[in-house]
Amino acid sequence: MKTIGIAGGGQLGRMLTDAAHALGFKVVMMDPTPNAPGMQMADERIVAAYGDANATKRLAEKCDVLTFEIESVNADALEELSHNGFPVHPTPRTLAMIKDKLYQKQFLSSHGIPVAPFALPEEAETLGYPYVLKARSGGFDGRGNALVNSPEDIADAVAKLRGAPAYAEGFVHFDKELAIVAVRTAEGDIKIFPLVETIHKNHICHMVLAPAPVSTEIAQRARDLAEIVLASFEGAGVFAIEMFNVGSEVLVNEIAPRVHNSGHFSIEACHTSQFEEHIRAVAGMPLGDPSMKVPAAVMINILGERDGQAMPDGIEDAEKLPGVKVHIYGKTDTRKERKMGHITATADTLDDARSLAEHARSLVSI
Ligand SMILES: Nc1ncnc2c1ncn2[C@@H]1O[C@H](COP(=O)(O)OP(=O)(O)OP(=O)(O)O)[C@@H](O)[C@H]1O
Ligand SMILES: [Mg+2]
Repeated sequence: MKTIGIAGGGQLGRMLTDAAHALGFKVVMMDPTPNAPGMQMADERIVAAYGDANATKRLAEKCDVLTFEIESVNADALEELSHNGFPVHPTPRTLAMIKDKLYQKQFLSSHGIPVAPFALPEEAETLGYPYVLKARSGGFDGRGNALVNSPEDIADAVAKLRGAPAYAEGFVHFDKELAIVAVRTAEGDIKIFPLVETIHKNHICHMVLAPAPVSTEIAQRARDLAEIVLASFEGAGVFAIEMFNVGSEVLVNEIAPRVHNSGHFSIEACHTSQFEEHIRAVAGMPLGDPSMKVPAAVMINILGERDGQAMPDGIEDAEKLPGVKVHIYGKTDTRKERKMGHITATADTLDDARSLAEHARSLVSI
């Protein structure tokens, strides 16, 4: 095994490529943007739309194993490759199931995993109000979701989703949002990263606190759920499980079949990062130790604040703070709320890590 093919070349692809290089692999990457963050680091590039079936096959011809960093890759093309014996991880069947949020919810609840009540749009009334109308596929950073507070909101919600196939989900009055990144080998060996709290602003992940400040009971429940979820999937790789904590309960919100924003802290804070674990898993290597090597870490996303050319500034000053590391993804253009980079601060306590990360964030502009 020498070359890893990655479909998708955003920041996740960039950090996967760093990990692959550190383990001695070459990376061939496919993305529509020639200088996308990951494409800048890849050893070989295929410039093509995510859905391009022929380009996906060309990618396979150039590598020993294929993986992906975005759900909008062509699951059918990957399925065909996999059917013909080419290794694709996680399996395209798992990807196809997760890609459709309604199938995903049905899959999770059929495996006994607690999720928010959900229904087809025509039966949404049975959930009561408010509920969330969610596009079945293609949404990210909350863009495929619309809140419905009363029957008067339905038309606007459908319009926001541009009539895309959707389903309805009961609104969860959660106390906290939590997430767990976990990794499995093709043989089913599972390792679980520490539970984190994720704090969203405008439906976009703003901050991640590791370990999550919750009771040991909640942390154990979340870990147990992560284990059940991972055991129910096929293929190798990292999965992220987004969860809601309501009182003493933990519900699964959704699964990502890939490395995830809630696991970026692991680069500095864990013995093995989520990116290294993913490469290890898809390359058939033994997994590393995902536990934390520092008491606490806080990650803050660097989101764009204006539209225009990116002009990263203040990074050196931010990194003068103890335990602070700044990651800039190399995107040419900044846009309001676009993920441009992130900051991780490690410290002895969550409070200290959070203060450091916030201070560092205030010094950086892009
Ligand atoms: N049923 C719900 N009840 C309450 N809040 C919800 C519900 N579903 C989603 N949300 C809120 O909206 C956010 C985004 O929702 P979701 O994870 O479904 O969308 P997404 O577009 O896939 O987001 P991302 O790309 O960030 O994963 C959640 O993190 C949560 O804050
Ligand atoms: Mg989500």
